[in-house]
Amino acid sequence: MKIADFELERYFARWEFAVRHLLCASDLEGYPMAELVGLADDQSRGLWQDLRLGYTESSGHPLLRAEIAALYDTISPDEVLVFSGAEEAIFCLLNVLVGPGDHAIVTWPGYQSLFQIALAAGAETSLHELREEDGWALDVDRIRAALRPETRLIVVNAPHNPTGMLPSHAEWRDLTELCAEAGLHLFADEVYRFLEYDDSDRLVAGADALPTGVSLGVMSKSFALAGLRIGWLATHDRRLLERCAAFKDYTTICPSAPAEILSLIALRARDSVLRRSHGIISANLACLDRFFGDRPEVMTWIRPRAGSVAFPSLTMAGRFAGWDADRFAAELVEAEGVLLLPGSRFGQPGNHVRLGFGRVDLPEALAGLERFATS
Ligand SMILES: Cc1ncc(COP(=O)(O)O)c(C=O)c1O
Repeated sequence: MKIADFELERYFARWEFAVRHLLCASDLEGYPMAELVGLADDQSRGLWQDLRLGYTESSGHPLLRAEIAALYDTISPDEVLVFSGAEEAIFCLLNVLVGPGDHAIVTWPGYQSLFQIALAAGAETSLHELREEDGWALDVDRIRAALRPETRLIVVNAPHNPTGMLPSHAEWRDLTELCAEAGLHLFADEVYRFLEYDDSDRLVAGADALPTGVSLGVMSKSFALAGLRIGWLATHDRRLLERCAAFKDYTTICPSAPAEILSLIALRARDSVLRRSHGIISANLACLDRFFGDRPEVMTWIRPRAGSVAFPSLTMAGRFAGWDADRFAAELVEAEGVLLLPGSRFGQPGNHVRLGFGRVDLPEALAGLERFATS
């Protein structure tokens, strides 16, 4: 398989662990291990203490699959397949679902593997562009207009990275009805699900919405446990899940044993885990509201409705006239050790940057940005 470089990951490989402040991380501040183990109930504490480090069940630990299934309204444990991160799930699903002669429609700008892997598998893709002038909203009529006889799949990431877009219930219903009518699979990347700022905005999961809906979940974002590398697919399409399981035999075969039990502990204690995530985000949103209110000459944004990322636009006024986001980010990191992610890493050269607000050092990072931008 020939595949283009994952631009964002190459950028992070260079910078992520070399800077003082990551102001563009997509995840939440990692949960401390000791605190997580402290959340265990009797059964999962026993599983942790007595854990043997052999191979694990390739479809995932039965108790973990049950806990994941409980995140959905209609999914049973055997309609869940556990992967090593959401990234592996995307890789397997797209390879299984599309190939030469197939067409997929994918939201864009977005997480590159959601379309790159479909392309590498030989499918054609149309990017469904979210537009700033539309408030980054999903446009179901434009998606309908992009359908072709050979369209097999629609891929939507919501809540969305990098814009923080969350469709309304009505938009989401229109989209799921479109998929059902046209007999398409809907691949719903829901890695930021449960990080809606208003619980009533939480959408029906893709897997619950239609028989050909596939939900993607992960421990990395809402649950603040990226280091576990545990993700999953949930769907009523059991045949599809079987084919993904067979494909996974060529990638990692089975999940990591400690990561599964730690994920089980976290999901059983999800109310506490999610409360911590929401606490970090709301404190950081208060700082960002202040910053965007005080500094419209530096950046403007469309405030997200969910998640821990946004896609603001640098105004490039004054001494920044003629700069692009790449230059701004390069000089900012040099001067202040603060990292922003230029939109070019999402295939969008120009003034946009991804801003991440899931980390607890956001106030210091923002102070560094403000010093740089206003000095
Ligand atoms: C929208 C989206 N989907 C999937 C992933 C992959 O998640 P993970 O790296 O935890 O496998 C990411 C990671 O940034 C993401 O932002």
